[in-house]
Amino acid sequence: MFSEKLQNAINEQINAEFYSAYLYLAMAAYLEDINLPGFAHWMRIQYEEELFHALKFFDYLVDRGGRVVLKGIDAPPTAWDSVQHVFENALEHEQYVTSLINQLYQLAKEEGDYPTEVLLQWFITEQVEEEKNADDAIQQLRMIGDFGPGLLAMDREMAARPPMSAEAPAA
Ligand code: FEO
Repeated sequence: MFSEKLQNAINEQINAEFYSAYLYLAMAAYLEDINLPGFAHWMRIQYEEELFHALKFFDYLVDRGGRVVLKGIDAPPTAWDSVQHVFENALEHEQYVTSLINQLYQLAKEEGDYPTEVLLQWFITEQVEEEKNADDAIQQLRMIGDFGPGLLAMDREMAARPPMSAEAPAA
């Protein structure tokens, strides 16, 4: 039995994933504005990943005969203090998303909904990667600082992030 409570919680998660997409697109816009196109490119791929997450939950609800209900997406911030601040914000946000995924998993367990548990195991693994990516960038930025040749070299590195289709794990 696919409970209403679990369906509602998954719909909330769809909204959270779309907000994540919007947040990273806002970060990409800020990074373009401060002339760091490589970092902006990296964030734009992050945006695509979040759309993929949202649609993975969307398709799951449909496959289980559930009802998708889309809600309004909050406006993200428009500016940050520095590149490092952008990635600190991204890490905080991913830690929050991890807590949401963990709560969903807890609910699926309480309801004895095994298929949802299996779906969420993919997301639990994904969140480890999401937090690691943001943290790796923070560690590098702390070493090189917010200005100078190191930042420009890192910008070129970030520009090499492959498109979503090349890095997406099998759904
Ligand atoms: Fe959808 Fe970045 O977690």
